Amino acid sequence: MLVAQVPRCTQGSEAAVHAARGICLPDFRTQCREKTVALNPSMLAAGMRVPPPTATNYQTNNTLSRLHSSIRSCTRCEELVRCRSRVVPGEGSVPADVLFLGIAPGRLGGDRTGIPFSGDRSGQLLRRMIERSGLERVFITNLVRCNPRDAGGRNRDPTHTEIANCRDHLRAEFALVRPRIVACLGRLAWQELVGRLIPFVPRQARPMERDGALLFPMYHPAFVNRGAYPLRLYARDFARLSRLSAGALRLPRG
Ligand code: URA
Repeated sequence: MLVAQVPRCTQGSEAAVHAARGICLPDFRTQCREKTVALNPSMLAAGMRVPPPTATNYQTNNTLSRLHSSIRSCTRCEELVRCRSRVVPGEGSVPADVLFLGIAPGRLGGDRTGIPFSGDRSGQLLRRMIERSGLERVFITNLVRCNPRDAGGRNRDPTHTEIANCRDHLRAEFALVRPRIVACLGRLAWQELVGRLIPFVPRQARPMERDGALLFPMYHPAFVNRGAYPLRLYARDFARLSRLSAGALRLPRG
């Protein structure tokens, strides 16, 4: 099981009912483990919104920064330790409505900035689409948190072993962020969560439920940037994702 769900409210039977629906009543706010995370300067630089400071924000921030510290000290992949400039943990709202799952930080992007999907064309496109579609509480992360390079110094896909080595970090992020929807950016991300038997068809995306979260297949922004998929359809897909997140999109019968 990859998508770990932690109850939002921790005490009381009414709270438990609402937790099952993913709702926190005002009365139970102090018992909720985490609300929207206070953003750090790197997130501000990436244009993310700043929530008001609260005790729960502080707690969440602490939890996220503890997770970040443990991820940043990872040395599981010898080759990635050699070629990475830095480790790039996921960033965004905690909890989040939508978690975007990419592949690995890019050489010109996250590997330089320390923030997933920032500083390069993929990041620009993804963030523009998120902004335009009106999605707000999002978390952005990758299958692998270090930049994989080939012998010529170019970006390459992570190997199965590298993805497996990073799986615990992804699980920990899922457990903290508890996304309602996971937008899988590219086939590798989709296959990691649903396996190889279910085809990756973002053009007619059929969201799938797994472990309490909806998985939504989308093309990777790099695919769109190189002209392999029209921007107009990509914007339509984001609008669909946004309607799904708002509960306004009916799921096809599976
Ligand atoms: N930047 C990321 O963080 N992930 C990708 O998959 C591509 C670019």
